[in-house]
Amino acid sequence: MDQRKGRRLVLFPLPLQGHISPMLQLANILHSQGFTITIIHTSFNSPNPSSHPHLTFHFIQENLSASEASTDDLVAFVSLLNTKCLVPFRDCLAKLLADVEEEPIACLISDALLPFTQAVADSLKLPRIVLRTGGASSFVVFAAFPLLKERDSKGQEPVVELPPLKIKDLPVINTRDPETLYEIVNGMVDGAKVSSGIIWNTFEDLEESALATLRQQFSIPIFPIGPFHICIPASPSSLLTQDQSCIAWLDKQSPKSVIYVSFGSIAAVSEAEFLEIAWGLANCKLPFLWVVRPGLTRGSDCLEPLPSGFMEMVDGRGHLVKWAPQQEVLAHPAVGAFWTHNGWNSTLESICEGIPMICMPCFTDQKVNARYVSDVWKVGLQLENGLKREEIEKTIRRVMVEKQGEEIRSRIFRLKEKANHCLKQGRSSFESTNSLVTHILSLETFTFHTQ
Ligand code: UDX
Repeated sequence: MDQRKGRRLVLFPLPLQGHISPMLQLANILHSQGFTITIIHTSFNSPNPSSHPHLTFHFIQENLSASEASTDDLVAFVSLLNTKCLVPFRDCLAKLLADVEEEPIACLISDALLPFTQAVADSLKLPRIVLRTGGASSFVVFAAFPLLKERDSKGQEPVVELPPLKIKDLPVINTRDPETLYEIVNGMVDGAKVSSGIIWNTFEDLEESALATLRQQFSIPIFPIGPFHICIPASPSSLLTQDQSCIAWLDKQSPKSVIYVSFGSIAAVSEAEFLEIAWGLANCKLPFLWVVRPGLTRGSDCLEPLPSGFMEMVDGRGHLVKWAPQQEVLAHPAVGAFWTHNGWNSTLESICEGIPMICMPCFTDQKVNARYVSDVWKVGLQLENGLKREEIEKTIRRVMVEKQGEEIRSRIFRLKEKANHCLKQGRSSFESTNSLVTHILSLETFTFHTQ
């Protein structure tokens, strides 16, 4: 019987950097467990198959127009993907299932934000496991969205149902169409509820309470098997070219002296905010490595909005790149703090390297992640009062040179140890991975019924 079970898995990521990376990391984890991996991918933001020769790629033509292939309004973009991918994805998956030459497929693993794949999998009688690339704590909040829908998202008051969140931490995002945001979130949660299980890029010691809540609320198995990126050797999944010049620059800096500044692949700031960031960095008089990604400043490309003479004024104390090898940067001994937007990957990467954070969440799960960083794990400080150069300077100095920073550093160091520990034999993520493999092998599929 065992030999008839599928060792092939089909994975389908949401085509955004913060989602592609963890899906490819998961692909590598499952490949190392003996599975054959097929990735279905959109043509938009497609990864380079030659960087992953042990995985098989199939690209679908979702036919996004130039204006549709934009993440300016993320809600509209994700909604559109869920409609436009349906037919090409279903055709591709059906073809893969019909291929009798290949190993049978045990299940589909798709991003939680692609709930349309549940209906496709159901129609093809293939089990679907969900990958949630964000944290468990923010998912608890998404699961409570119907309850939270009417709250104004700007208040400082506490959300009594979800301590320690404040109203302003609720994971919303600016969009032309707020109703669609609720549809997407509800679709994500409802799709996950009827799936065959959820994989999380997190670990028990970090999010024990949220995972316990989810186990109570969801009657499907939950597999916290992270942090993915330290389970496996580095796998190249960056969509932008990483500028290695910053490593040579970091090599010249003193230990723990540099503040690394990066706001991920999507977040954008206004020109006024960009200037406050620049002046805050200049005024704190500490070395900094700043990722100024094309599109970081709304309506402008890269360095244009920098005050004239800025680089001369910081006099070698600052190094700017368009995109950094972030994991290498965070692992570098010269880095002393990470000023981040708290995307889940960045948050986990910082924890795994024991780097204290300065939190500047922009939207959705980032706001919940930042509140957990500052108030629950106490491994960072938030810029609570908007982006003002004086506040930035003060917060950087509190983290980098004051006693509070030392306390934060020792707390995040303990968390880093836990992150490494959970992957050892007999510990939580290691055992969860074993349970996931057993679970996948136990899934009954259409393929097996028809053999
Ligand atoms: C998005 C959402 O914004 C975030 O809220 C959600 O949790 C995941 O999806 P993104 O904003 O890109 O992600 O942030 P993040 O999750 O932190 O992922 C960014 C990834 O890009 C990280 O793995 C980071 O290492 C990498 N990166 C970032 C680089 O390789 N170089 C850089 O210069 C910056």
